[in-house]
Amino acid sequence: MGFHMPTKVLYGRDVVLKNRELIQNFGERFLIVTGKSSKKNGSLEDVLDVLDGKYVAVYDETPENPPTAIVEEIAKMFTDADVVIGIGGGSPMDTAKAVAVLLENPELSAQDLYESNKYKKAKPIICVPTTAGTGSEVTQYSVLTFNGRKRGFSHECIFPRVAFVDYKYTLTASEELTLATALDALAHAVEGFISLRATPFSDVLAVESVKLIKEFLPKVLNDPENEFYRERLMFASTLAGMVIAQTGTTIAHALGYNLTTEKNVKHGLATAVFLPFELKVTNNEKSKFINELFENSLMGFYEQVGVKLPISFSDEEIESWAKVVLNASHLKVTPGEYTLESIKNAYEFVRSNFCI
Ligand SMILES: [Fe+2]
Repeated sequence: MGFHMPTKVLYGRDVVLKNRELIQNFGERFLIVTGKSSKKNGSLEDVLDVLDGKYVAVYDETPENPPTAIVEEIAKMFTDADVVIGIGGGSPMDTAKAVAVLLENPELSAQDLYESNKYKKAKPIICVPTTAGTGSEVTQYSVLTFNGRKRGFSHECIFPRVAFVDYKYTLTASEELTLATALDALAHAVEGFISLRATPFSDVLAVESVKLIKEFLPKVLNDPENEFYRERLMFASTLAGMVIAQTGTTIAHALGYNLTTEKNVKHGLATAVFLPFELKVTNNEKSKFINELFENSLMGFYEQVGVKLPISFSDEEIESWAKVVLNASHLKVTPGEYTLESIKNAYEFVRSNFCI
């Protein structure tokens, strides 16, 4: 067993502003990849402040669940960048990672990103998370939408060089975004804990992360401007990211991807609704341990924080999604047996318990 997470993590309030020199020393020409919210939460302003005097280009149109076509487009627009900074939730950070690969390897197409032996290096990547959830700032993964489906790629070269983690950027997050992103972190911690690739190192981080989310997610939802509560959730999210950097994610992520791409459900929410089902199928010491952390009622916790899915789906949709999930690589690291029938049962479980 081992532990590998080469990203330098700088953590705390105003951590970007306090490390001006470190960021400046990365290069001369910076490309910032972000969405619209980084203007509102102060993260873009901080990064632009510390890059004063450098050449800086900003791409601020990253959509949720970015398609690979956008990655190619950005890489073609900013060919001369020598450092890529991703600011935001998972979508901008994952886009930044993919763009960094294409900038270093201009002969590649976005499709080639999924063939990890086709490239070795990426431009240096810096990440500034502005949600407490994705953990992408400390992972070697990038999840994009490829041919209409969410599909991740993994490569050592896309581990960010530095993650600047400052909870203050989450203070303005809406209730809906706070819930969905925290549920993503919860899914990372729980899936990582039960994953067949879990190690005693990742387990320590996973358990701490689950405990923090259980305690502080309800508190943040009741008191969203409380800095201490926000900081605890941010910490939990970073820990959970370190977990999946070791373990990968399991079947709940594969199941959830269909609800995101086909029904527009936020990634964390779409994933977490499958955790009770996954824990039931897992049915071992580890799943029992997680259930006990929630007083044997993860469903009760979900009710407390208001987990609901305002969608509906048909038996035909379940059938087609289940076929996709059956072939997902996530199954290789998921404990328990899954068949087409039991995967369909997972969707039926979610439909009858969470859909309104
Ligand atoms: Fe996730």
